[in-house]
Amino acid sequence: MRTPLVIANWKMFGTLAEARPLATGVRDGLKRFKGVDVVLCPPYTALMAVGEILQGTPIGLGAQNCHYEASGAHTGEIAPPMLVELGCRSVLIGHSERRREMGETDELVNRKVHGALAHGLTPVLCVGETAEERRQGLTFTTVEGQLRAGLAGLDAAAVGRLVVAYEPVWAIGTGVNATPQQAAEVHGYVRGLVSELASKEVAQGLRVLYGGSVKADSADALLAESEIDGALVGGASLNAQGFVSIVKKAARGAATRGE
Ligand code: 13P
Repeated sequence: MRTPLVIANWKMFGTLAEARPLATGVRDGLKRFKGVDVVLCPPYTALMAVGEILQGTPIGLGAQNCHYEASGAHTGEIAPPMLVELGCRSVLIGHSERRREMGETDELVNRKVHGALAHGLTPVLCVGETAEERRQGLTFTTVEGQLRAGLAGLDAAAVGRLVVAYEPVWAIGTGVNATPQQAAEVHGYVRGLVSELASKEVAQGLRVLYGGSVKADSADALLAESEIDGALVGGASLNAQGFVSIVKKAARGAATRGE
């Protein structure tokens, strides 16, 4: 029912010399491949080059961040229409690295969600607890707070245009992914909350991705869970072959579940 979605977050990796062959490798590896939506999010500086490589393919282009305003005196920032002009269809918002390193608050994340939607971009709203929060039994509380704040002021139709990515902070870049059960539990919680905040229909159609140390060998079990609609892949997306294999597993996961 929900088409799986696999997003590559290249983070601050990828000079043009590196980005071009990587994007070409993913494009060629997924030729004639169907059943999964795929988006590459390179750094801003590689968006145009990667967009050219992906042109004419179903692979989408996304950005890793954006400002909430359409233009303005905001030195060093990038506005949603600039991303749209380059062919971006989605944008990651509220990634934990930005929350932690750049001090992004829930309120700022919410403004960005509104800003992205206003220009037709699909916001990929990232939520997730730290190791300490999980230890203290605050996983659902944290995710609830981030979701409520991130979705504030959106009507049900707008919520229906989002993707949510559950990325437990303790699983990012550590090599320790959440177990399929841990992830599915939070995904189910996210869907329940969205059902309450928007509607049951919106919640049923919402794609909730898992992110955090997804590798080709951990992807099978994660993507076999019916609550896990795809993956947001960091480190493993920097290798074309590895990323292509995760995408193919997402298709198999959906097939196994009869979708
Ligand atoms: P890793 O896959 O490197 O753990 O990163 C996950 C992530 O943060 C994707 O946004």
